[in-house]
Amino acid sequence: MSALMLNRDVDDLLRQIRGLVAGGRVAAARPLLSAVQRLAEPSPEMWEIEARLLLREGRGAEAFAVLDRALALRPDSVSLRLCRAGARADAGELALAAADAADAVLLAPGDAPAKALLGAVLLELGRAADARACLAEALRAVPQDLDTRLALARAEETLGDWRAALAVLQAGIALAPARIGLRTAAILLLVKREAFAEAVAMATTARADGATDACVLGLLGHALSSLGRHDDASGAYAEALKLAPEDPYVRHLVAAAGLVPDLGRAPPDYVRVVFDGYAPRFDAHLMGLGYRIPGLVRAVVAAAPAAGPVLDLGCGTGLMAVALSDLPLGPTVGVDLSRRMLAAAAQRGLYAELHECDIEAFLAAEPRRFALLLAGDVCPYFGDLTPLLRGAAARLEAGGRFVFSAEALADATPDARGWQLGKQGRYRHGAGHILAAAAAAGLTVEELRPEVVRYEGEAPVPGLLAVLRSAAR
Ligand SMILES: C[S@@+](CC[C@H](N)C(=O)[O-])C[C@H]1O[C@@H](n2cnc3c(N)ncnc32)[C@H](O)[C@@H]1O
Repeated sequence: MSALMLNRDVDDLLRQIRGLVAGGRVAAARPLLSAVQRLAEPSPEMWEIEARLLLREGRGAEAFAVLDRALALRPDSVSLRLCRAGARADAGELALAAADAADAVLLAPGDAPAKALLGAVLLELGRAADARACLAEALRAVPQDLDTRLALARAEETLGDWRAALAVLQAGIALAPARIGLRTAAILLLVKREAFAEAVAMATTARADGATDACVLGLLGHALSSLGRHDDASGAYAEALKLAPEDPYVRHLVAAAGLVPDLGRAPPDYVRVVFDGYAPRFDAHLMGLGYRIPGLVRAVVAAAPAAGPVLDLGCGTGLMAVALSDLPLGPTVGVDLSRRMLAAAAQRGLYAELHECDIEAFLAAEPRRFALLLAGDVCPYFGDLTPLLRGAAARLEAGGRFVFSAEALADATPDARGWQLGKQGRYRHGAGHILAAAAAAGLTVEELRPEVVRYEGEAPVPGLLAVLRSAAR
């Protein structure tokens, strides 16, 4: 066999193996790669495919060893740099990922995927302005690339220019009208900005263009419901549910519309989707709504500060830790499901530990006890509060306190269960339910008083502030 022929065979095989790895068919890829490794001299491409296969096989440490060795031999290989940058980003090693991606850009200044990856990693690192510059350049070279466009829109949104973010998405929709992901992102952006009429218009156009799925219809329902058009919203939700009966986001909103029974708490995937999208503007938005809970909790805690560890359940971006930062408390541990909310909390530098975890799962697995537990505006994601309060009680030191807020279930809407899922996908609770759940958890109610949580327009959102204490053992 001639050398030329052999090279062509190897190239064909490597292309085939790359496709198998990308498609997750690792069992088929592995023997083929072993055959090529016996047949041909090692090359950067072969090392890169080996590393990608190892990553797919869940053998991360071996993949990094291959990449480190390969890059020591071929430091100028752009594809190896990008492969390691991507693997490092997936492993949460963002600074190292950015270093590799930046090296790749220096080696190949015209390489759009390198710029796109650098931009995406810089965005995760909170460097939105640098990210925007990289992503905009990359997108000029590959305007049809969905991920780059979505990342650029996110960078614009993070920088506070949501109209620019919308323009980025709309330009993408004009280029590729069938791309549902762009429609969803644009409608979600409008819903988050409470531009509900625009969201309805865009979702209606998407439906007319045939570029629709359960998510688009779920968002349409949400926007319609926010405009008070509950019957139209029910229709959209019913359509969404037909398309995706198992989708947790759709299901929760459909349950909120009262079309199917709710599951008793917001599903973790729903919480993640909502708060990952909300994170970049959470603080500014809540400030605009006159969010009062951190200040109210601070007043309760400051009146009787008890030194000791603090557990902030559903810590979000860390507003609670900010409110308590000058009190003699801590160390503070934060728990949240949303990676992006946690990234914002980490930037405040006020938490000794942050855990990406469901609150109930964390409480069940955590062995330590805390002097103070907090849950600011987290009860709206739980129906029956009894399991939450039981889990919290088990993690309180003797005499420790659990301070939390809830949205109040109006007396005019009594519910036998004492809690109800509202049309916006948030649970409201009656004082009676909180008293019963506290008793079931063995906690003493020190205070349970009505408080305004925030304002929607001029209207106060009625809530409850609860201070529960664990018995001194
Ligand atoms: C409205 S935010 C409040 C954040 C913060 N406590 C504050 O007062 O600013 C609610 C937070 O609870 C988190 N969350 C909701 N349900 C959760 C669950 N089951 N497990 C962990 N985090 C949850 C969300 O991701 C979100 O960050």
